[in-house]
Amino acid sequence: MWRRDSCRARSGACILKRRIHLFEFNDWAHTPEVLRQAETDALRGLESLAGVPKALAILLNRLIAQLVPDRIVDLASGGTGPLLPALGDYDVEVVCTDWFPSSRAARLVARHRPSARYLSEPVDASAVPESLTGLRTLINALHHFSDDDARAVLADASHAGQPIVVVELLNRRWRDLAMTCLIPLGVLAVMPFVRPSFWALVATYLVPVVPLMVGFDGMVSCLRSRSQSEMLALTTGLDGLTWTTGAQRAALVHLTFLVGVPTR
Ligand SMILES: C[S@@+](CC[C@H](N)C(=O)[O-])C[C@H]1O[C@@H](n2cnc3c(N)ncnc32)[C@H](O)[C@@H]1O
Repeated sequence: MWRRDSCRARSGACILKRRIHLFEFNDWAHTPEVLRQAETDALRGLESLAGVPKALAILLNRLIAQLVPDRIVDLASGGTGPLLPALGDYDVEVVCTDWFPSSRAARLVARHRPSARYLSEPVDASAVPESLTGLRTLINALHHFSDDDARAVLADASHAGQPIVVVELLNRRWRDLAMTCLIPLGVLAVMPFVRPSFWALVATYLVPVVPLMVGFDGMVSCLRSRSQSEMLALTTGLDGLTWTTGAQRAALVHLTFLVGVPTR
């Protein structure tokens, strides 16, 4: 069942009343590409470990049944995250995009899912090309945007009249913050299963830069995350879409989501 408000219900107290937007390596233009791609590949592995694809599938199946999209445009795809396993055998065109496109993920997508492609040119989630119509997905990425930028992402979808689903994996709760302390161990465990590059293996097991970097970014992501009401507040005045929020339990995390569908 979709569950309403995320922060206090059931799973512990909020850490901070307001989100804080600290530095993340993943956002930094100077982060070497090999580390950035190793991080987003590791995230795909961690998301699988946390049961995100299964929980996301429940949410996407409902939306797909309602909207019957002929294309899914994934924004801020990184290493493609949980989207492709969540779609399973569902036959739909998928276009993955990112401001820092991952050439490794692009090769994997091309090899393993013929109906999917990963654009090699940067796409800003707040300025999606008009030709890319379809259901937009933004998974585990809204926390990368300040309130103004996040609103611009949602406004772009609203002005284009394109449906969007935004999914966040962490909440500003002690439980989630404690869990992020285990991320470095999780990275050590999942890295062999995400088809890592040689240098990603070196930077994981020989000099453990990647586990520490993903762990640090995970903690900051937790403090940057938004509750359902904070997500909904970003949509004020964006009347091109009708907005709803909810939560969906996964094995190790609670997904918080915001959905915008064209207003009839
Ligand atoms: C935490 S990763 C999430 C990747 C993937 N969706 C997942 O679930 O594993 C966040 C992604 O947001 C991307 N990103 C940050 N700012 C962006 C922007 N303005 N437009 C598009 N993508 C952006 C980063 O490059 C990064 O790949």
